[in-house]
Amino acid sequence: MQGAVIQFDRFNTLADREAGQRIRAAKEKLGKDVALLCHHYQRADVYEHADLTGDSLKLSRLAGEAQARYIVFCGVHFMAEVADILSRPEQISILPDLAAGCSMADMANLAKVERAWRELAGVLEPDEKITPVTYINSAADLKAFCGAHGGIVCTSSNAPKILDWAFARREKVLFFPDQHLGRWSGHQMGIPLDEMVVWNPDLEQGGLTREQIEKARIILWHGYCSVHQMFQPRDILKFRNQHPDGIVISHPECSFEVCRQSDHVGSTEYILKTVKAAPPGTRWLVGTELNLVERLAREVAYEGKHVQFMAQTICMCSTMQRIDPQHLAWTLENLVLGKVVNQIKVPEHEAALARVALERMLAVS
Ligand code: 13P
Ligand code: SF4
Repeated sequence: MQGAVIQFDRFNTLADREAGQRIRAAKEKLGKDVALLCHHYQRADVYEHADLTGDSLKLSRLAGEAQARYIVFCGVHFMAEVADILSRPEQISILPDLAAGCSMADMANLAKVERAWRELAGVLEPDEKITPVTYINSAADLKAFCGAHGGIVCTSSNAPKILDWAFARREKVLFFPDQHLGRWSGHQMGIPLDEMVVWNPDLEQGGLTREQIEKARIILWHGYCSVHQMFQPRDILKFRNQHPDGIVISHPECSFEVCRQSDHVGSTEYILKTVKAAPPGTRWLVGTELNLVERLAREVAYEGKHVQFMAQTICMCSTMQRIDPQHLAWTLENLVLGKVVNQIKVPEHEAALARVALERMLAVS
């Protein structure tokens, strides 16, 4: 098609309301050619345009099943990569703002993981003894590393099942990048805390002794989510003092103590389902990102359910927040003109191996 790509600066100053109207108009023109996949952390004025919503596991399944030519991913970079890897070659995965990354995913990279694997080889034979498990919040080359080394991907909704799969094959797991999800999932499987050690990628041999590595069942990468680490056990204590009948629900990216003191722990989809299915009149303290919690609070208020955010301060996922109505309108209006902006394309050699690790996960969960 003739003509140049429309530049974003024409959308920068657009009022949210007008951007919203233009998104609706562009979506109508694109019809079945576009599917808007939206993570639960997206802001309300983006979420309202979603065709499909979900947690990371559900969205990766939906991306694999989508028929649309364009998959516009309102989420963060690794999610659009997964959509590209699992969709058909002729489909195009788009992230409306390329700056929408995940700071936790960035805490592990291929060079550091390969170095860890080499250093572990000084103690034991990693390809015989260790299954690498990467949280889906990671770059495609780390998923490819897992694909190449007999490993697998997990999400916050299937991590214990995935660990079962991993331990059925090899005696230890190297879990990256989120130590908290790894620790909580290991704990749920009955693995003692002293058999889970933290690998600090900035220290030689992860900062661990030979004996610690030999004894460990799970080697946890020193990564964390800066949003979920804001939630503190003292927030739970205060809530329980004020509301003895209140119920606490948290995401497994929260610290071990927060998870341990919660009544329920699970993915974003699980949190939504659990609170929505609860009896009218119940009161909830929720430990996950603010956009989700505020939307949930609005949605269940009519049943007399009270939903409260766990942190004392406003903490949002600033990178999820990068997807705003202006970027979405810009992306979609370009598509109407047949112009693709912000395509996420994983190189095929990497995608093929990453697909192996993702498909192992989808088969297990
Ligand atoms: P979910 O898989 O639960 O949606 O979590 C993704 C995420 O990034 C949470 O911070
Ligand atoms: Fe990444 Fe944390 Fe944001 Fe989730 S909430 S996308 S883990 S930075």
